[in-house]
Amino acid sequence: MPALKFSRDVAEATDHVYEKIKASVPRFEWEMHAPLVAEINRLKKIHNAIILGHNYMVSEVFHGVSDYTGDSLGLSKVARSADAELIIFCGVHFMAETAKILNPDSTVLIPDLDAGCSLSESITPEDVRLLKDRYPGVPVVTYMNTPASIKAESDVCCTSANAVSVVNSLGEERVIFIPDEYLARNVAKETDVEVIAWHGRCMVHEQFSVDEIRSYREQYPGIEVIAHPECSPEVCDEADFVGSTSGMIGHLDRAESNRVIMVTECSMSDNVQEAHPDLEFVKPCTICPHMKKITLEKTLASLENFEHEVLVPEETRIRALRAVERMISIGRDTNN
Ligand code: 13P
Ligand code: SF4
Repeated sequence: MPALKFSRDVAEATDHVYEKIKASVPRFEWEMHAPLVAEINRLKKIHNAIILGHNYMVSEVFHGVSDYTGDSLGLSKVARSADAELIIFCGVHFMAETAKILNPDSTVLIPDLDAGCSLSESITPEDVRLLKDRYPGVPVVTYMNTPASIKAESDVCCTSANAVSVVNSLGEERVIFIPDEYLARNVAKETDVEVIAWHGRCMVHEQFSVDEIRSYREQYPGIEVIAHPECSPEVCDEADFVGSTSGMIGHLDRAESNRVIMVTECSMSDNVQEAHPDLEFVKPCTICPHMKKITLEKTLASLENFEHEVLVPEETRIRALRAVERMISIGRDTNN
């Protein structure tokens, strides 16, 4: 393969992408990204591949090479109905695994196998079985941010986009909600169902504090605060809107101020700036080190070498599929 260089052809193939991200990516940096973007997009066609990019991807991955972007619920649905031979998941491992659970006929690749999640690592199948022993007959609602082995122990999955609807849909007085303690407590505020929580935390969202949000409000009077429900309930109580990553993006159309803070992972504000030129984003900038493992270089290597394949043992997949499909049959929460 010829060395990848910035050329007139590359510029022609990619200038429309640069237009979308020029507010956050300087030109000299773009000239390093552009040849990779052009090559990835060329190889995708040859290999009948699609790239799914989570909302937290860096801009050059999000706008440059992703065929579909969205939150974990939206991308699961895309994966489920995709007829591509190859799905490259630019996101974290549990997301790629969910794509494989829903679409076993496609080869699912993730550019970096170490792109994990602190929530995914916070619970084991043995922990779930102990919880079920302790609360016999109480259904287990499992956040999507878990490995397939945990989903397989569950009655139903949920994401931040549908957690309240999923809990209410069960018609039970109590549910076990794993593994995100903060999401569980945020859901509990919105339902009459008693929620038994686990103690998992998102290493990104647990960093935001009430004092920080209040200091932004003091510094920027009238600012609109939009938060992800993996933040603590106290932080969410300070926000004007709380929702999934796609819910947060959707809320921007209804923002009542032209200054906004998205209390979530850093890349979100960069990725939506082009669609909202009139909004000024104040960026608290907390990075998910797992999401940031996914780069253009690794995405290209993934396409060239068919690495790294995400596999789920069939017995686990079938059990996990039941919980994920049950979730998909339930809609999103209002406004989410
Ligand atoms: P969403 O489902 O809202 O995209 O969230 C996934 C995630 O990992 C947030 O930290
Ligand atoms: Fe996991 Fe938090 Fe990163 Fe989302 S932001 S992938 S919940 S560690």
